[in-house]
Amino acid sequence: MTTSIHAQRRARAAAALGSNGIAIIPTAPERPRNRDSDFLYRHDSYFYYLTGFTEPNAWLVITGDGRSTLFCQPKDLEREIWDGYRLGPEAAPQALGVDASFAVTELDAQLPKQLENRDAVWYPFAIHDGLEARVGGWLNQVRARVRYGAICPEQQRDLCGVLDEMRLVKDAHEQDIMRRAGAISARAHIRAMQLSARMLREGQDVREYHLDAELLHEFRRGGSQYPAYGSIVAAGANACVLHYRADTAPVKSGDLVLIDAGCELDGYASDITRTFPANGTFTGPQRTLYDLVLASQDAAVAATRAGARFVDPHEATVKVLAQGLLDVGLLDRNKVGTVDDVISQRAYFQFYMHRTGHWLGMDVHDCGSYVEPSQVGEVSERRDPLSNELIKDRPSRVLQPGMVLTIEPGLYVRPADDVPEHFHNIGIRIEDDAIVTATGCELISRGVPVNADEIEALMRG
Ligand code: GLY
Ligand code: MN
Ligand code: MN
Repeated sequence: MTTSIHAQRRARAAAALGSNGIAIIPTAPERPRNRDSDFLYRHDSYFYYLTGFTEPNAWLVITGDGRSTLFCQPKDLEREIWDGYRLGPEAAPQALGVDASFAVTELDAQLPKQLENRDAVWYPFAIHDGLEARVGGWLNQVRARVRYGAICPEQQRDLCGVLDEMRLVKDAHEQDIMRRAGAISARAHIRAMQLSARMLREGQDVREYHLDAELLHEFRRGGSQYPAYGSIVAAGANACVLHYRADTAPVKSGDLVLIDAGCELDGYASDITRTFPANGTFTGPQRTLYDLVLASQDAAVAATRAGARFVDPHEATVKVLAQGLLDVGLLDRNKVGTVDDVISQRAYFQFYMHRTGHWLGMDVHDCGSYVEPSQVGEVSERRDPLSNELIKDRPSRVLQPGMVLTIEPGLYVRPADDVPEHFHNIGIRIEDDAIVTATGCELISRGVPVNADEIEALMRG
């Protein structure tokens, strides 16, 4: 049962606080959108990780002895008629497995008492506006009682590091949700691809928002609560804008469409990109670059396994892309030299300007250090060949089974005098989600094909 999963996580977090430590974890605030309407509510990921509780106005307090206390909205029939069911503090211990619970209106009265005689107070730094001041106010009340013998915590510590390390390795329960999120998102991509080809076959005016609507439909149909991030649906040259959003541009026969979209399911993100020909058939130059990006992704996938470094898939990608850019004539050997020069001078950066992946989890760009903790002191310095900036490198994170990352190489060809015209405005990214295993990785987003022939076959159907 999920209650025990959250209780186990709370126990692990408590063990990191020291026996006399205390941790305070608020959920996210409701955020106004305009006048009296709020944005759709999304809980805080740390809070949810430790409670599984999705109501707003809630706080979790954990102490080093392993006890946990929840503060939540009190039952209120009138408010519940307007806003919906509230769990309420009476039911919380049974429902969530916490040891005690109070109405959130008790927070300011309870926290100074809970902080008294502790040596360290932990909370997530720089996440919740005003939290530092709030904790400061409670500590001030404890300090006022020092002359009666109370001890005031002397240390404030960032809880993020503790929880980030826990969240970085996904347990079986999390992996299961992420597999299901990946499957829903894959179906959504298929649906958008097929609609594009069908509408163009029927001579209809296709717009980016038509494809976005297919994504949303399939996300919700699969039980997802919302997209995990703003969906990118970019037709033609728009694919070269990395953070483009689904808009009104026409989706034209002969153009590529880049869709970067993933649903959030039960608090976990998926993150998939596919690039496909709007009418279902790649042109020659599109296919050339598509196959190059796919080959670079294959190399990255092959480099993803326990014991490898986080940076290895990126380096594998860059090697394939650098060679390919020379082979297809996007980079001129006479100007940039050998493949090793392309890599060391970062000459590929004109066409590939982002990293090959990031951690994926409750947040699309999930938490977790990209530096190997045991080697954090091993710093080497180098000058960036393009900016001449002094860069301090630390050894990249060693991958472990259960870590989840994206593998998302791309090529983005903006028109320029020295760039062959048949490649102008082609933007391609292929992104899959990988669970690291002992011997390799499990791609949980391959319900939608990546192979160009398979995409064309799918779009004919
Ligand atoms: N969709 C955000 C990313 O791919 O990182
Ligand atoms: Mn993405
Ligand atoms: Mn991504």
